[in-house]
Amino acid sequence: MRVLLTGRDGQLGHECQLACPAGVDLTAVGRQECDLSDPAAAAAVVHAYRPNLVLHTAAWTAVDDAENQEAAATMVNGEAVRALAAAAREVGARMIGVSTDYVFSGEGTEPWQEDDAVAPLNAYGRSKLAGEIALAEELPGAGCMVRTSWVYGRRGHNFVHTMLKLMLAGRELQVVEDQQGCPTWAGGLAEALWALASWPTNQAFAPLMHYTDGGICSWFGFAQAIREEALGLGLGVAESSVLPCTSEAYPTPAKRPSWSPLAFSEGWAMVDKEQVPWQVALRTALPHLAAEAQASRPN
Ligand SMILES: NC(=O)c1ccc[n+]([C@@H]2O[C@H](COP(=O)([O-])OP(=O)(O)OC[C@H]3O[C@@H](n4cnc5c(N)ncnc54)[C@H](OP(=O)(O)O)[C@@H]3O)[C@@H](O)[C@H]2O)c1
Repeated sequence: MRVLLTGRDGQLGHECQLACPAGVDLTAVGRQECDLSDPAAAAAVVHAYRPNLVLHTAAWTAVDDAENQEAAATMVNGEAVRALAAAAREVGARMIGVSTDYVFSGEGTEPWQEDDAVAPLNAYGRSKLAGEIALAEELPGAGCMVRTSWVYGRRGHNFVHTMLKLMLAGRELQVVEDQQGCPTWAGGLAEALWALASWPTNQAFAPLMHYTDGGICSWFGFAQAIREEALGLGLGVAESSVLPCTSEAYPTPAKRPSWSPLAFSEGWAMVDKEQVPWQVALRTALPHLAAEAQASRPN
C-alpha cells in the first residue's frame, strides 16, 4: 500500500510515522512540499505520488487565530481537503481525514453521535466542517473523516505538554472545569488510523467515524490526573497545584464548546480497535511526553 501522509511535522502526523505498519510504502509531506493554502498545488502532490491512500493529518489548528482569519483557515481546512479528495478520486486512492468535536454546539448531555446535528461555535469548527462536507462530496464510500478531540502527542503543542512545563516550574495552575470532553493520546489515534487504512477495499468507508480515548473529564480533571501521573513518575511537580476555574475566568477569542464528548464509533470493531480509558492512555503516553518536557526544561 502506497500512502501519502500530510502533516509530517504535526503531533498526529509524527505519531502516524512512528506507528506506520511494516510493508507500507509511506511518504510523509510537510508544509514545504504540500502547502494547503494553495489547494491546487496540494492536489498536484497527490497526482505526482499516486498513492492508494491519502492520510491527511495536516490542518490549520490555531483555533483562536482562525477567528479573524476565517477565509485563510477555510482555504486550508476546507478547500484544500476538497482538492486533495478530488485528486485522490482521480488517481483511484482512498482518503482518511481528521476532524473535530468543535463541529458540535457543545450544548448536549450525551456523547455526540456521528449523525447528530452540527453547529460549530467558532471559525475553526466551521472550517473543519467545510472539510468534512468536501470529503463526503468528493469521495463517497472512499473517504472517511475521523472526528477526535483533546489530542496530545509526544511532539508539538498540546495541553499535556503545557501542563507539564508549568508544573515542572512549580506553578499554581487554574484550569477550566466547565468544559467536558474526551482526551485522546495521538499514539492510539495513529494506530486507529492505520487500522482503518486496512479496511477492505471492496467495502465502502463510513463517511464519519468518532475516535477518542474512553471516559469523560473536564480540563481541570485532566490536569489533576496529569499531576498525579507526573508525581507517580517521580517528576519534580510536587510544588505545583491545580485549582478549578470557569471559562469566564479564562476568556479566549474563540468560544469553546462546553460539552465535547464523542461516542466511540461501532465501526472500530471491524478493524479490531478497542477504546482505551483515557487514564490508561495517559499513563502509557506520559513517560514519552515527560522525556520531551524535561529535555526542554530551562536549567
Ligand atoms: N489537537 C487537537 O486537540 C485536535 C482535536 C481535534 C481534531 N484535531 C485534528 O487532528 C488533526 C491533527 O492535528 P494535530 O493535533 O496533529 O495538529 P498540529 O500538531 O497543529 O499539526 C498540524 C500540522 O498541519 C500543518 N499545517 C498547518 N497549516 C498548513 C498548511 N497551510 N500547509 C501544510 N501544512 C500545514 C502544520 O505544519 P507546520 O508544522 O509547518 O506548522 C502541522 O505540521 C487536524 O486535522 C486537527 O484539526 C486536533
